Amino acid sequence: MLKKHQWWQEGVVYQIYPRSFQDGNGDGVGDLAGIRQRLDYLAWLGVDAIWISPIYPSPMADFGYDVSNYTDIHPLFGTLDDFDALLAEAHARGMRLILDFVPNHTSDQHPWFAESRASRDNPKHDWYIWRDPAPDGGPPNNWLSSFGGSGWQYDATRGQYYYHAFLKEQPDLNWRNPAVQDAMLDAMRFWLDRGVDGFRIDVIWHLIKDEDFRHNPDNPEYEAHMGEHRRLLSTYNTDRPEVHDVIARMRELLDHYPDRMMVGEIYLPVERLVTYYGTGAGGVHLPFNFQLIGMAWDPVLIRAAIDQYEAALPPHGWPNWVLGNHDNHRIASRVGAAQTRLAAMLLLTLRGTPTLYYGDELGMADVPISPQQVQDPLEKNMPGLGLGRDPARSPMQWDDSVNAGFSTAEPWLPMAADYRDVNVRAQARDPHSLLHLYRKLIHLRDDWDALAIGRYRGFSAGAQLVGYLREHENERLLVLLNFDTAQQVVDLGDLLCGEILLSTSLKREGEPVAQTLLLDGFEGVIVRASCN
Ligand code: GLC
Repeated sequence: MLKKHQWWQEGVVYQIYPRSFQDGNGDGVGDLAGIRQRLDYLAWLGVDAIWISPIYPSPMADFGYDVSNYTDIHPLFGTLDDFDALLAEAHARGMRLILDFVPNHTSDQHPWFAESRASRDNPKHDWYIWRDPAPDGGPPNNWLSSFGGSGWQYDATRGQYYYHAFLKEQPDLNWRNPAVQDAMLDAMRFWLDRGVDGFRIDVIWHLIKDEDFRHNPDNPEYEAHMGEHRRLLSTYNTDRPEVHDVIARMRELLDHYPDRMMVGEIYLPVERLVTYYGTGAGGVHLPFNFQLIGMAWDPVLIRAAIDQYEAALPPHGWPNWVLGNHDNHRIASRVGAAQTRLAAMLLLTLRGTPTLYYGDELGMADVPISPQQVQDPLEKNMPGLGLGRDPARSPMQWDDSVNAGFSTAEPWLPMAADYRDVNVRAQARDPHSLLHLYRKLIHLRDDWDALAIGRYRGFSAGAQLVGYLREHENERLLVLLNFDTAQQVVDLGDLLCGEILLSTSLKREGEPVAQTLLLDGFEGVIVRASCN
């Protein structure tokens, strides 16, 4: 592999939602000791880095995304010693560790907020976003919380409102204040000095708000099923130009350490998304590309999305792709079981760093959650709209024993009903399983520079297909994905011949190919082109 590429460019990232991965101490909630137990599985799968959702002390109003101390570990997950042991063991296996960092807001239980809300003139009085009431006593402007209702909460002690982009238990920090920036950079330094390889930065496009607190305009595309939080466009409370200055400070810090990276969580249209690479590489290393999560599963749209993204990337911008995460419905539920293999091949053969969500390699689907079982505050605040995130956070399915080997205690969220069939042990034994397909795809990226770092070129193969070439030096691979239930004959045109390197069925490897290729319904193949 060429040394001019970094680990976060060549590698595959695996997201662990720590509450749901493996319980090591029998309390029904996953923890760091549990992750340690499963490192051999991750090494076997072949992933290069793990990103762990927040493990800091937190009242858990938003399951860890409400941090009350940035430089410690929640006892539910373990201790700093457990963390150091996990990091060392991951490194010993050649795996990197990316921490989730949540800079936009703290918990309302964070000592900074306690101090800030105590008076209008304490040293931290402007560490959060405080505003006087509107003349009628109501909120200062119309900004909404992403979790429903107004984004402003009145505080009687200060006689002012504070802004919270999410829950009222998650007050937004005032990132225009240099002291806040310094404190958060110190927290990042704490983990960098401990040896973490990077950060996934939570809602990074939210950090800076409009200086004048202008009202947000109406969203012309709003429909009630989207949830009240979509009634307005987030014009003035997100994606403000000055956000790039604070990201540049984070980047400068990371650049003082060798081989570190940050990936930013950003839900924006592609032309806005790519601005987060920064000018002259002063931005995040990777702004998460969520196109495949947000769009309809349609080959015409997917081809257009890939082309648009490739064209929009700045010269220094390395691409990346995501199929699922802890905030969205599972890929298996969005596209259906019949197309999970196609989705896997797409994710792992497109140009750029793939991030895969724990359990997607098994085809884990959304788990139905009854109203009594709901944990997610988003579902509690806006029930019945299908916005709830619990279904995609169910415990990992390791084997067919009680609670799928996740825990000896009742898990914090219900297990999938099908875990006796859909689990790591069963799929590891079946050489044609989805798990083996993921593993082979991941390993192929190690074997073929064309896949890991090669160029991308669209290959037109019919309306129902997504096709592309990946090329590097003398390596030339053709990826063909059939999005139709029906068989398709693909004319290879001047590509003439080659052999199948991998098929989604895992049954056609080595098959010679010449001039035309027959694909089954929902089949994908990687062809090694050898005659042209
Ligand atoms: C991010 C997280 C999500 C969380 C929110 C507020 O979007 O991914 O889980 O609820 O930020 O911190």
